[in-house]
Amino acid sequence: MTKEIDLGGSFRFANTSLTVKRMGYGAMQLAGPQVWGPPRDPDEAVRVLREAVEAGVNHIDTSDFYGPHVTNQIIKQALHPYADGLVIVTKVGAGRGADKSWTHALARQELIDAVQDNLRNLGLEAMDVVNLRVGGNTGPSEESIEEPFTVLAELKQRGLVRHLGVSNVTRRQLSEAQKISEVVCVQNFYNIAHRVDDGLIVELARQAIAYVPFFPLGGFSALQSATLDRAASTLQATPMQVALAWLLQRAPNIVLIPGTSSVKHLRENLKAAELQLGPEMIAELDRIADRGRDAAVS
Ligand SMILES: NC(=O)c1ccc[n+]([C@@H]2O[C@H](COP(=O)([O-])OP(=O)(O)OC[C@H]3O[C@@H](n4cnc5c(N)ncnc54)[C@H](OP(=O)(O)O)[C@@H]3O)[C@@H](O)[C@H]2O)c1
Repeated sequence: MTKEIDLGGSFRFANTSLTVKRMGYGAMQLAGPQVWGPPRDPDEAVRVLREAVEAGVNHIDTSDFYGPHVTNQIIKQALHPYADGLVIVTKVGAGRGADKSWTHALARQELIDAVQDNLRNLGLEAMDVVNLRVGGNTGPSEESIEEPFTVLAELKQRGLVRHLGVSNVTRRQLSEAQKISEVVCVQNFYNIAHRVDDGLIVELARQAIAYVPFFPLGGFSALQSATLDRAASTLQATPMQVALAWLLQRAPNIVLIPGTSSVKHLRENLKAAELQLGPEMIAELDRIADRGRDAAVS
């Protein structure tokens, strides 16, 4: 059993009573292969969740379209009744086809059903935070999000949702949402090698809005870099730990939700919060993205 450890300090979502440890947990890996059906090892999935919470994690990111339903059902099985202060964040706006594809589910009734599905499968009466997930699989697109975000704002007024966030969005979409209702977090694709949102993170920090990077370890294609390997060997850590520590040191409003299906990786990831990267190492690590940008244009 893991003792409670330092998890990178805390972050309070703007204008809320929600305070989370900066090292959280993303539950997508708890479903089966291709985020579909039950996990290969259901007991391990339960162990991962319980150990995360025992170690002090109080921020779990999920969605009812993981599985679908499976991930939320495992969270409920492992952790319900939930400890005080545990913040479960979900996302709506996507769905799954019978062929395991990822589809949009942004119509009014689809969004209402999705929030109800999350509440039922998690065993909650209200969600702490719901993110509206829009855009494509690999990045945002510029469609208006006024209609779907207005639906979520109504659900907030009805008390089914306490706070709202947005996911896979551009700056313009974020501003559009902020005109409708307060946004407490933005969940976009970002990691040491993929830094499109560098400027946005700074703007959000000024507003005390949490920036929650998805794919912090590269997601479906794990981060690989000789620079990361070198830093890891210098620190007697693993490359994944360095990638997470870099994110924690990148900006104070970055809140992490690395995903794993294994207790071993969970322990490794949580311990990353204890790593300190010096300025020279950070400068060297920053060049991973520069190289990525060079490769992208060449
Ligand atoms: N808003 C969105 O559109 C969106 C999209 C994707 C994800 N998300 C959220 O973001 C969370 C994080 O993203 P993610 O889980 O897709 O990707 P991730 O955290 O970048 O990486 C997860 C992958 O890394 C592996 N891994 C984890 N820890 C490791 C370690 N210490 N050493 C080696 N491999 C390790 C996992 O495999 P093992 O299971 O074997 O550890 C898994 O394959 C998700 O869980 C989900 O909640 C949101």
